[in-house]
Amino acid sequence: MAIVKAYQGKCCYPGLGFGALSCSFFGSSFKSFSVSFCDRVVNIVEIEQGVAMALALITGASSGIGKATAERLAAAGYSLWLTGRRQERLDLLRQQLVDKYSVQVETFCFDIQKATAVDSFIEQVQSRLSGLDILVNNAGLAKGAEKVQEAKLSDWDEMIDTNIKGLLFLTRKIVPAMIKAQRGTIVNLGSAAGRWVYPGGAVYCATKFAVRAISEGLRMDLAGTGIRVCNIEPGMVDTDFSLIRFGDSAKAKAVYAGMKPLSAADIAESILWVIQQPAHINIQELVIFPTAQAAVGQVHRT
Ligand SMILES: NC(=O)c1ccc[n+]([C@@H]2O[C@H](COP(=O)([O-])OP(=O)(O)OC[C@H]3O[C@@H](n4cnc5c(N)ncnc54)[C@H](OP(=O)(O)O)[C@@H]3O)[C@@H](O)[C@H]2O)c1
Repeated sequence: MAIVKAYQGKCCYPGLGFGALSCSFFGSSFKSFSVSFCDRVVNIVEIEQGVAMALALITGASSGIGKATAERLAAAGYSLWLTGRRQERLDLLRQQLVDKYSVQVETFCFDIQKATAVDSFIEQVQSRLSGLDILVNNAGLAKGAEKVQEAKLSDWDEMIDTNIKGLLFLTRKIVPAMIKAQRGTIVNLGSAAGRWVYPGGAVYCATKFAVRAISEGLRMDLAGTGIRVCNIEPGMVDTDFSLIRFGDSAKAKAVYAGMKPLSAADIAESILWVIQQPAHINIQELVIFPTAQAAVGQVHRT
């Protein structure tokens, strides 16, 4: 089932074009409504300013930016496919979003580092991939902050396999369906660390430099297909990111001490803004810092 936006008496959905739909289908309290249209069953969702409602896949939705993005997109009426490795967190989030926003949410639990796990996920959704409009490649992490000469090889493997290879595995499998549909928006979660390196961050930064390169290269490879690619590059965001990185809550807390970092919701709002731009506008890159962070490594603390 595809999701369309009902707005000012018209039904707008890429691929279906504009078709007249009677205003009497929906009133101000309208929430969700299914109708047959152009040989497809479509679900009319609540009226809100913006562009077509759609189906979005968000990786790493069990926490932080991915979770906040799921919440923000659900509030805007999007249908969601949410992924992560912690099934119970995904289940809880799904229930909350369904109860609160009456949207369709499906969860998929797998490790994005494993190409075979990505393949089985794709097999599950293959017949419905043509309805996917948005891919948010968010799953990612930093592990450790040791100098190169002291770092653990397993930390490097995990960062490279998740942030680069996982993103590539999934993107490779999804893009052909988007090309066929001649539409789609891919939002990659890069980082300010993908532009500026800091001590102890060589490999994490390298993975995010890679995300920037992949975003640029993908945009070139997709030129003419109508598919947009955006790289979001945040500075400090208060999520579980530092806890995962250091495995120590005191160290993680210290990262944000005496300053106001960005929240996951701040980034989610920007992602929504990016994907809701008219189809001819592609926000290629978005660098977002907290005001208290002038540059990577320069933070004003009180
Ligand atoms: N926080 C920041 O300051 C900051 C700044 C710039 C960029 N970023 C980027 O933003 C993205 C989200 O990070 P966050 O800050 O929201 O951190 P977070 O709260 O730790 O969330 C990370 C998410 O990624 C998922 N994930 C990690 N490894 C995975 C794997 N192997 N397979 C599937 N899912 C995996 C986690 O889910 P499971 O553990 O359930 O698998 C979790 O949902 C990352 O790409 C990060 O590099 C963060």
